[in-house]
Amino acid sequence: MKMTLLEKIKETQLFLQSKGITSPEFGLILGSGLGELAEEIENPIVVDYAEIPNWGKSTVMGHAGKLIYGQLSGRSVLALQGRFHFYEGNPMEVVTFPVRVMKSLGCHSLMVTNAAGGIGFGPGTLMLINDHINMTGTNPLIGDNLYDFGPRFPDMSNAYNEDYRKTAHSVADNLSISLKDGVYLGCSGPTYETPAEIRAFKTLGADAVGMSTVPEVIVAVHSGLKVLGISAITNHAAGFQSELNHAEVVAVTEQIKEDFKGLVKAILAEL
Ligand code: HPA
Repeated sequence: MKMTLLEKIKETQLFLQSKGITSPEFGLILGSGLGELAEEIENPIVVDYAEIPNWGKSTVMGHAGKLIYGQLSGRSVLALQGRFHFYEGNPMEVVTFPVRVMKSLGCHSLMVTNAAGGIGFGPGTLMLINDHINMTGTNPLIGDNLYDFGPRFPDMSNAYNEDYRKTAHSVADNLSISLKDGVYLGCSGPTYETPAEIRAFKTLGADAVGMSTVPEVIVAVHSGLKVLGISAITNHAAGFQSELNHAEVVAVTEQIKEDFKGLVKAILAEL
């Protein structure tokens, strides 16, 4: 018999609880090349994605495909090393499934991270996401509403928690890590954008563009999770540099990952 989404969430929750994942506070989604942070989690319980019922498959270079639970900066975290993208052919239900499971397991907050192209900001910039623009062409909440999680028409006015953003900036200042602030625009990918699209997105108010995060954040907000998002800007968006490739995205992420890891750990300690 076909399981409902709620039944699948419950099954996965019970499976992960049976593995000892009992009381996470913070969900952590680690974007391309940023997964190394999960290696610093203390007393880790590691579960391969392949073992988890109802879980998607992660196919992208730079994404490990593991779930890691333990302590980071004294907080109980459930980290995803590798996320599911819409462009991989995953339905939005699968892309956002981990967020619903995080909520069901007891998380009250979600930290999302990604690699993104900069519109205005250059490679190597860390950008705190203060809002987003959904250009994926769809919405993960289309379909029957899960009233157990949230309302039919969720308010997105404060998607990226203001207190968390203030804390993030003050932590960055204390560490002398430069942290910009801006709007993330999420596309479906897998193509990078055209220069004309980037000019349009600039006019719309976007500071960074990427192929993830927006679906997960919509579902997180629906579920009442407090969200903090950080983009690692890996390249100038299309039209501001001669060409774009994934190898460059990976190389720049390598360069900024120490600052990134230090910042995320320090922010977690203060949230
Ligand atoms: N566009 C979309 N996604 C990205 C980019 C980009 O320029 N860089 C890293 N991820």
